[in-house]
Amino acid sequence: MESIQMHITLRKLSLGLAVFLGLSQVSLFAAAQNADATKLYHRSLAATCANCHGTDGKGVPEAGMPLINNLTSEQILTTMKAYKSGAREGTIMHQLAKGYTDEQLQIIANQLGKK
Ligand code: HEC
Repeated sequence: MESIQMHITLRKLSLGLAVFLGLSQVSLFAAAQNADATKLYHRSLAATCANCHGTDGKGVPEAGMPLINNLTSEQILTTMKAYKSGAREGTIMHQLAKGYTDEQLQIIANQLGKK
């Protein structure tokens, strides 16, 4: 009798363990997916600059667009905030900069700044 109960208890335990392991794998998977989504979001924000400044700020030398990959993240952020506040004038950048939150500008600057 006792051994049957022991057997049932063990089965319950191992079922619980299996469910626990299963769930922790699901949450690991979700965390990995979140990290991927965040990376993608950061890259897509930075990609909005690529039309003019080239992929990863490498520039389009013949197109007369300033290179920005020679700037540090700090310099990019300061410049973008200056465009946003109107402290710095431009033909286009002062308009574009207003379209981003300060948090997004920080992400873009981190993404594109010279490493
Ligand atoms: C539509 C084209 C265009 C897009 C898109 C664009 N830029 Fe610009 N950017 C320019 C032009 C043109 C200038 C020169 C200043 C001006 O006329 O506004 C400039 C200047 C800059 C400068 C100053 C460079 C220097 O050396 O003085 C920085 C920094 C910069 N852009 C960052 C960005 C970032 C970051 C993004 C994406 C959020 C971006 N730009 C998107 C066209 C663009």
